[in-house]
Amino acid sequence: MHHSKLPIASKCEPTAVMVEEGKTYAWCTCGLTEKPPFCDASHKVCWTEDEEGNAIKHFVSKKFTAEKTEEVWLCNCKQTSTPPFCDDSHHGAKQKVADGSLVQKH
Ligand code: FES
Repeated sequence: MHHSKLPIASKCEPTAVMVEEGKTYAWCTCGLTEKPPFCDASHKVCWTEDEEGNAIKHFVSKKFTAEKTEEVWLCNCKQTSTPPFCDDSHHGAKQKVADGSLVQKH
């Protein structure tokens, strides 16, 4: 799948998730997942091209290990500057979806 607009926003709001201390999670970075905010391996079929037309795969999941058992807010818009955590950038992401500079999946 060629997708020049990646990453896309899975949706423009975060998801509250209970994480367990010491457990590792895989956060979606491409936005194509059907299980936001977690990776479902959709990135494996994504690619773009370099200037010579060679396929480049850009996306892998971002793994993180919970430092304690708690509820965290994980980003779905992929615009956060503190991945995998929401930093309220989804407010700007909504504007980007409206002006067409960001694709939203859900
Ligand atoms: S959902 Fe991406 S910053 Fe909040």
